[in-house]
Amino acid sequence: MIKLNNIVATYTTVRGQVRAVDGVSLDIPNGIILGVAGESGCGKSTLLKVLYGDIGFPLTLQTGCVEYGFQGDDGLQITTSTIRQYWFRRISYIPQSSMSSLNPVVRIRKQFIDFLPPDRRKDQVLEEVRAYVKKLDLPPEALDAYPHQLSGGMRQRLMVAMATFFNPDLILADEPTTALDVVVQKGILLLLMDLQQQMKNTMIFVSHDMGVHYQITHKMFIMYAAKAVEFGDSNAIFESPLHPYTKMLIESLPTVGDDHLRQGVIGRPPSLWDNLRGCRFAARCPLATELCRSEEPNLIEYTPGHFAACHYAEKLS
Ligand SMILES: Nc1ncnc2c1ncn2[C@@H]1O[C@H](COP(=O)(O)OP(=O)(O)OP(=O)(O)O)[C@@H](O)[C@H]1O
Ligand SMILES: [Mg+2]
Repeated sequence: MIKLNNIVATYTTVRGQVRAVDGVSLDIPNGIILGVAGESGCGKSTLLKVLYGDIGFPLTLQTGCVEYGFQGDDGLQITTSTIRQYWFRRISYIPQSSMSSLNPVVRIRKQFIDFLPPDRRKDQVLEEVRAYVKKLDLPPEALDAYPHQLSGGMRQRLMVAMATFFNPDLILADEPTTALDVVVQKGILLLLMDLQQQMKNTMIFVSHDMGVHYQITHKMFIMYAAKAVEFGDSNAIFESPLHPYTKMLIESLPTVGDDHLRQGVIGRPPSLWDNLRGCRFAARCPLATELCRSEEPNLIEYTPGHFAACHYAEKLS
């Protein structure tokens, strides 16, 4: 189990501090794919950065901690400040665009090898990586290329290969298929699902695309304006969402054979700079009342394992 305890993460900007993740607590069971959804700017990537321990200016972890549930080489519990030593081995990260996160002037294999623990023979590990890459239907020579020499899909498959090579306990994937065409996208999703099924690691998968969440995730976590609004089994969430925001996201999905005009997600999230009072979704919510505008709803468990932060969750179910 991975536990997030009241995570508050801020960015320092010229205008001051902005809270990109504002008091998120979450228990993630091992061996599942957790989907994280929500509109642009709601804090999904920031949450992953905190989990990955990629914290440093301008990002600060103000309060809260992550319990990874696995021990380090020294037998001590791993924390966000020590997790960095276990990158690739225990935790790995597949970024949204591997072009911008891979160093353009360093060969791909070197970027990976740099994270190997000192006790591993680099040439030996590299041979194993080549064999593994080949198993995933990629040409092993791709490891010797510079990032710009490969197509977007190939770079992303290589990232998947490197991120899964050591069979880490936790794999973080931040919109791993955005900006790729649908065919390549499908291939990468199938590869990720396949590897997760074989290795049984925990995967946290960020995407805007509710259709992709429906297909691959076991549980879902919905964020809105830096807050958690709903968490539960994906089946339950898609069948009977407890938060009007989740409902809105699901209803924006097209279904085959239905030619009704789809209701997009109307309006936009509030600025995190505003003085946010009450429920952050109230301004866009068809159910909102004075209560919602004045009092912030807590994340409450309505049915076993299904949580929502809405004063009217029961009405919705
Ligand atoms: N380096 C930064 N400096 C200042 N503010 C930032 C920085 N990165 C993100 N933010 C702000 O933090 C908030 C959350 O950003 P984050 O990238 O986590 O959102 P996201 O949900 O991943 O969005 P997207 O779907 O667009 O990737 C946003 O309001 C964003 O403007
Ligand atoms: Mg993001």
